[in-house]
Amino acid sequence: GLVAGVMGWPISHSRSPLLHGFWLRQYGIDGAYVPLAVPPDRAEQAIRALPAMGFRGCNVTIPHKEVAFRIVDRLDSSARRIGAVNTIIVAADGTLEGRNTDGFGFWENLIGSASATWSVSRGPSVVLGAGGAARAVVVALLDAGAPEIRLLNRTQARAAEIAADLGDARIKVGAWDGRDAALDGAVLLVNATSQGMTGYPPLEINLSALPLDAIVTDIVYVPLVTPLLQAAAARGNPIVDGLGMLLHQARPGFHAWFGTDPQVTDDLRRFVL
Ligand code: ATR
Repeated sequence: GLVAGVMGWPISHSRSPLLHGFWLRQYGIDGAYVPLAVPPDRAEQAIRALPAMGFRGCNVTIPHKEVAFRIVDRLDSSARRIGAVNTIIVAADGTLEGRNTDGFGFWENLIGSASATWSVSRGPSVVLGAGGAARAVVVALLDAGAPEIRLLNRTQARAAEIAADLGDARIKVGAWDGRDAALDGAVLLVNATSQGMTGYPPLEINLSALPLDAIVTDIVYVPLVTPLLQAAAARGNPIVDGLGMLLHQARPGFHAWFGTDPQVTDDLRRFVL
């Protein structure tokens, strides 16, 4: 059978085995997707061993995304721009291709949930945060044709670094204190900070300047409806939760390893939660 997995440290919390296992059963594929607990000092060795162990590839999660970025033989454009690899494909000749599908997952989830009349090209998007997730979101929005991305982070220098790395004039870095005002005229608000996650305080933001047809989305999915999404829904904005991003980012890997582009369904959402 075909074998793939997810490499991380720790790995027990990862929902990827559940998710890929669901698809393998759904599509009746003779394959396996296994958790790979690999400590940081073994990550390079483990990644290089994938072809010898007969793996078609693997997902890479914290803290191995940057090591994977450094050592694979080829990078796709998303991985190159995000600076991290979350999906490794073992090519027919045994070489390793590194991809980053987080931006793809973000965009597929967003556009799959948006109304037919919503368009990212109609106005500025606001992205809060400057970690790996924020970087993936910014890359996805640039690729989707966003005319302006207002990128705000508590530590403004990290946002400025993303803007400098990506070198696209559509990225406008702003001060964290200006986040309420930055919502004026926006078509999209993305929370890519850890604020609002279970165990963290809610994101502090006043939504009153945000147009009511702007989509509000959170990359956090525990809880599924964060305080930000609750507040947005209460005033009438369409909301998109973060679980879909996790599910959609898994599709390209599954497709490459097992030969089927899998579907994200409500059954899958319920199963993975
Ligand atoms: P990841 O790479 O998974 O996105 P990260 O690099 O730890 O994770 O990023 C966490 C994000 O949440 C950062 O943007 C962080 O802001 P800083 O860059 O200033 O640290 C943001 N964040 C964490 N705590 C915050 C807080 N109390 N208020 C606002 N933003 C916060």
